[in-house]
Parts: sequence; structure tokens; C-alpha cells
Amino acid sequence: MTGSYTIIDHSHDVVIVGAGGAGLRAALGMASSGLRTACVTKVFPTRSHTVAAQGGMAASLGNMGDGDNWRFHMYDTVKGSDWLGDQDAIEYMCREAGPAVLELERFGVPFSRTADGLIYQRPFGGQTLNYGKQMARRTCAAADRTGHAILHALYQQCLEHRTEFFVEYVALDLLMDEDGHCLGLLAWNVEDGTLHRFRAHRTVLATGGYGRVWFSCTAAHACTGDGNAMVLRAGLPLADMEFTQFHPTGIYGAGCLITEGARGEGGFLTNSEGERFMERYAPTARDLAGRDVVCRSMTIEINEGRGVGPQKDHILLHLEHLGADLLHERLPGISETAKIFAGVDVTKEPIPVLPTVHYNMGGVPTNLHGEATTLRGGDPETVVPGLMAIGEAACVSVHGANRLGSNSLLDIIVFGRAAAQRAAATVRPGETHAPLPPAATERAIERLDRVRHARGATSAGEIRLAMQRVMQRHCAVFRDGPLMQEGLGKLGETAGPMRADLGLADRSMVFNTDLAEALELDNMLQQAVVSLHSAIGRTESRGAHAREDYPKRDDAAWLKHSLAWLDESGEVRLDHRPVHMQPLSNEVAPIPPKERVY
Ligand code: FUM
Repeated sequence: MTGSYTIIDHSHDVVIVGAGGAGLRAALGMASSGLRTACVTKVFPTRSHTVAAQGGMAASLGNMGDGDNWRFHMYDTVKGSDWLGDQDAIEYMCREAGPAVLELERFGVPFSRTADGLIYQRPFGGQTLNYGKQMARRTCAAADRTGHAILHALYQQCLEHRTEFFVEYVALDLLMDEDGHCLGLLAWNVEDGTLHRFRAHRTVLATGGYGRVWFSCTAAHACTGDGNAMVLRAGLPLADMEFTQFHPTGIYGAGCLITEGARGEGGFLTNSEGERFMERYAPTARDLAGRDVVCRSMTIEINEGRGVGPQKDHILLHLEHLGADLLHERLPGISETAKIFAGVDVTKEPIPVLPTVHYNMGGVPTNLHGEATTLRGGDPETVVPGLMAIGEAACVSVHGANRLGSNSLLDIIVFGRAAAQRAAATVRPGETHAPLPPAATERAIERLDRVRHARGATSAGEIRLAMQRVMQRHCAVFRDGPLMQEGLGKLGETAGPMRADLGLADRSMVFNTDLAEALELDNMLQQAVVSLHSAIGRTESRGAHAREDYPKRDDAAWLKHSLAWLDESGEVRLDHRPVHMQPLSNEVAPIPPKERVY
């Protein structure tokens, strides 16, 4: 017992936090290599947000006879990242993509097929052949439920390999020693109210993004970036937090995702004049330009009065010309989503859509083995002993300033597997654990108590809404310095005092959703502050970070990653690390920055 809590101790070789695609792929690799593997997750594994990934996973298989190869994929990814992606990690990911897809097929993922029985591939934004000359068909799809198929196959494989799952356990904090080694984590079992101390030689954060910081997003309610916030509280930095991806086609008013695969299959956008306006902004790729480009174009159309509807505040996505058969075979999921959330029959009418927060390029800085890094003694590649991060929680960085659609499912599989290989190579199964200083647990419990016993008058829901409205308005597709400063002020003036006035209606430990939401809110507020500071700090426009006061990319000053620390008093400190411009092998030359046009 510590205070009023029952603490149960567990000892594993590795503990993974999160059971989305990245967490499950890592768990599978670690468990099957003989490491005693725990997977701690706040939702049942097959309800993780990967289940919502629709359009597919990029890999240059060339199954559609287009002659695609990994060099084209690498070029597109570097260009898509607006040259902020690390070229060594990008080369690694693009080369590993083909084997990763074939491995998933063997695990049981039911990919859609071509007439010849090959894995079906559709075009996605920013995918080209011959370095931008023609469009490619690179995205391997299981209709428009690819993430669902991957998640279920991986979960079954994990069970087969005896991963130990701890389901409905909320991760509270990392357990760090005085020397900055990560020794495990403390988690709360929501079902019976006990606390659990997981000791592990590697703690792997696979906790996903923090889309729920914004008012309108495609992310599940669980996407609160818990791992990122634990890293901040451990005194470690997060990288590139200014880069938030908006997806062009969230359903207007509901935020639900309509896959980019819809445009890959031939769908297109129109404004209030019925014009296919993307032809003006991206003459070659049109509706399949990079997501940041499409979102900015849509926003300009709306801002200049060519939005659709009584408020002229959205855009239309047309699929009706594709025909019922194709929609049924390739896009059944979004046809149903459009019916339920927009009341639209996609065979007859267009879907009202709006750019909607979809992905966080920033997260825990890591090397390409998934090891968390920090800046220490001037060395930005310093590995944090015992800590790893993968998937959307991590910033490897393969997406740089803007992720290409369908590179996310690829990222989670490739780097989930890379992390497993690293752990298998560096951890001896059954190794003895170092002693755990009591202060580590005490710190985590202090925070839990602070939130649990908060006695103010404002609910977590009210504070969350205030934060989401600030971020939606002040950290949007277009931003500028004064707007973001005002947002920071509002977070301080509204959410800050509200946070001091937080009150919980329920102080129990068993299935206390009030407490779980308040803990998640605490996590989200920390990331909101860090995101705004990082965005104010970067005085240029690059990828998804479009500043009206600094409209140009500035490679001389800003070809570097941001790092942000948050101290206990709420102060943010910014620093930087260089972009890796050198690819991994000498089989490909560095891709030098140039103007990004589609
Ligand atoms: O549009 C989509 O299907 C989303 C894919 C992605 O974000 O990679």
C-alpha cells in the first residue's frame, strides 16, 4: 500500500503502452522473440484508433503495372514532408514497406485484390512516378477498412505469441530514476481501482496522437496523447509539435473521416460555383496534391466567399459519378458513414466536407530503432535509456512538416517491427531489474491525487471544451503570430484558471470515467501549450505550418526540428536539432530542398 492505494507489482522484459497497430506490431515482435511482453491499454485492443484507418498503407509494390519503386516513394515522402523529414528514416521506411505489407498478408490481412489476384493499390495524395512526373498507385487497401483489418490480424497474432494484455489500464506516469533512466510505468486498473507498477527494461510508448486537443477532429475520444504528456512530465522534450495535419475531407459538422481513397478512386472537390478549384492550385495532382496543399486551397475558397451552404462554410466532395458498383466494392465504409453522419446517399449527392484535424506529425523524438532521444551535452541523438516510442506518438521523423496519406499505417508497422528488433537485440530475457527509487512512484501518485481530489467548481468537460475552442481558432490551417499569442493568452486566462478550479463529482477508483477524463485533460492541456509555443517559435511556413505573417519556407534559418520542454511551473523551453539530410545507404543521393509544387 502507498497512501490509500493498493499497488500490484509486475515484472516484464518489455512493457508497451497502447494497443493500436504500432503497439501490437511491437508486442508481436517482442513476444515472439522470447521477451516477456506486457501490453497496457486503456481501450480493448481492437477498439484502438487504428481501427478507424480507412484508405490503406503505402508500399511501392507496383502491382498496378505502373513501375513504382521505393526511390519514388522516398522522393515523394521527402517532398511531402517539405524537407523536414529525416532522409535516413524515410529511406528505411520506404525500403521496408514492401516486406511489411507481405508480412501482414501472411498474418491474415484480407487485402482487396486485382483481377490477377495481386494486392490492390489505389492512388493517394502526393504519390508520383519518376519524381513528380505522373501519379502512382501505391496504397495497398482492404476496401476502405484497412486499419480495421490490420488491427484484428495483429491482435490475433499477439494472442498466439502470448503477449500479456492489461486492458482498461490507464497509464499514469513513467517511472524514472535520478539518472534519467526509464524503469517502467505506473498504471491504474479502471475495473477494480488498483494501481499497477510495471517494471521493464524497455517501456515503449505507442499511445497515438493528441487530436482531441482540437474541437473538430477525425480522432477517437481516446486520442489524448497520454504518452507524450508522460514524456513532458519526465522532463524530456517533444519534437515538431507545431505540425498538425488537417485532413481535407472530414464530414462537415461531424468531423468523421471520408478517406482520401475516395479521391484516389476518382472523387473530386467543388466550390459554390461548381468549379473543380484544385485545378488552379495544383495543376498536375489536382485533388491528389499533398493534404496541406488541399486544405489550404479549400480554406482559401471558403475565405474568399466560394464556400457551399447557407453559411458558405464548407466544400463538396463528389463521388456520385463513380457508380454504385465501385462505391460498394471499394468504398463501402465511407458510403455508410456519409449516410449516417451527413444524411447523404453517395451514389446520388456530394458529401459536405471541411478540413479537420487528423494527425500530429510531432511527438517523442526517436531514432529509427524507436529509441527515445533527447538533447544532452549538445548531442541531439542522446538515447534515453529504457524508453522507446513508435507510431503517431513518436517523431522519427519520417513525416516532417506534412505526412502523406497512407504513410501512417506504414510507419506503425515498419517502426513497430524495428522497435521489436532493437529490443530483441539489446534485452536479455529475464534480466534482473535495477532497484526502483520510491520517489518515482510517489511523484506519479501525487499527480493522481491532485487530479482525483480536485475540489473546484468546473468540470473536466467544461475545461476541455474551452481548450478545444481555443486550439481550433488559434492553431488552425492558417495561423499567424498575434493569433497564436492570443490563443496562448486564452489558454492561460480560460483553461488555466479553470484547471485550478477543476472539480470532480466522483472520487472513487472503480470505473471512474470522471477521473479518467480529468487525467486525459491534464495530458491534453500540456500538449496544447507546447504546440502553441512551438508554432509561435517557428517563424516560417513549412508543410502543415502555414503562417500568414511568414508565408515563405526559410531553409537558411529553419531546416531543423523543434524540441520543446515543459517545466513544472508551465514554462516552455524551445531548442532544435538538425534534420538528417543524409540517406541511410549510398544507394540513393540526398534529396536537396526545392520549391514544393504539385
Ligand atoms: O484518408 C485516409 O484514408 C487516411 C489515411 C491516412 O491518414 O493515412
